[in-house]
Amino acid sequence: MWMEVVVACSVSLAEGIAAELVLEVSAASGGVQIRKNQVVFWVQPEDMAATLSEVENCLTKLAALGWDTGPERVSAGSGAPEEEWRDAWKKYFHVTRLTRQIVVVPSWEEYEAMAVDLPIHLDPGQAFGTGAHASTQLVLTSMQAMADSGYVPEMVFDLGTGSGILAIAAAKFWPQCTIVATDIDPLSISATLENAANNKVEEQIEVSTTDLSLVEGQFPLILANLQAHILRGLVHDLLPRLAAGGDLLLSGILHAQIQPLVDFFCSEGNLELVSITNSELNPDWSSAHLRESGQLQVAE
Ligand SMILES: C[S@@+](CC[C@H](N)C(=O)[O-])C[C@H]1O[C@@H](n2cnc3c(N)ncnc32)[C@H](O)[C@@H]1O
Repeated sequence: MWMEVVVACSVSLAEGIAAELVLEVSAASGGVQIRKNQVVFWVQPEDMAATLSEVENCLTKLAALGWDTGPERVSAGSGAPEEEWRDAWKKYFHVTRLTRQIVVVPSWEEYEAMAVDLPIHLDPGQAFGTGAHASTQLVLTSMQAMADSGYVPEMVFDLGTGSGILAIAAAKFWPQCTIVATDIDPLSISATLENAANNKVEEQIEVSTTDLSLVEGQFPLILANLQAHILRGLVHDLLPRLAAGGDLLLSGILHAQIQPLVDFFCSEGNLELVSITNSELNPDWSSAHLRESGQLQVAE
């Protein structure tokens, strides 16, 4: 028997809180389920007390960062037999068009693609990235606009690849391009490998848990859909990976944090702001498109 741990939240914060729980709470590292205004995962009854305390700490930290949440939002729910919880989240994930060309197709559903479509067959497993989250869609929308303008990068770096959704989209937009994708979560690596193979783009994508500080080369396009505080902490390892004149798409950022984050990145490197975009799906989320504007000089 498994017991539910339930975090009540607004629909707009559910994916962000889910991502934080996966990172911060050991019992959630195997994955969480989003049910509109709840984030749910399961623990064995004997682990419940310690897990509730870990979740409370995580929610307290997020509340201090300005998120509309707090330790009072977590509760212990009912139990569920093994087979019921394992695949429960699948009923919330269906074929979805995310851009003019990108259509996400759960690997257990059928879809008859139109000629212009670039379908992404996806089984995120326990990794983040069904494409339902505004932060993912913001990056895909920017990539679609770049592809529509005739832009073709030789290489793309996808930092925090999750299910591999952005790396696979890059492979589909630009079939000649090589993609380096990394994530600190080994579950993301197995999900990305499987999804890349299901989309027949595994030869284009190099995926690993390589620490950002050890990633080699410079990339004309970097995709980084991570939360603002993580991006801040990675700036000195991230900017040297951006090629001269290269484009950097930052997402996973709450609207109130976007301008301070852009200012911070521009103060740390030789960058110019191309655009800030607010999500049409959910105005709480924003992304930024920055461009390296000459000789890159990263502050020590
Ligand atoms: C918000 S998810 C984005 C997933 C996917 N790229 C998307 O757009 O849907 C962020 C991912 O970044 C990963 N991550 C967090 N910190 C990281 C770090 N320091 N280096 C690499 N990946 C990291 C997490 O494990 C998670 O899979």
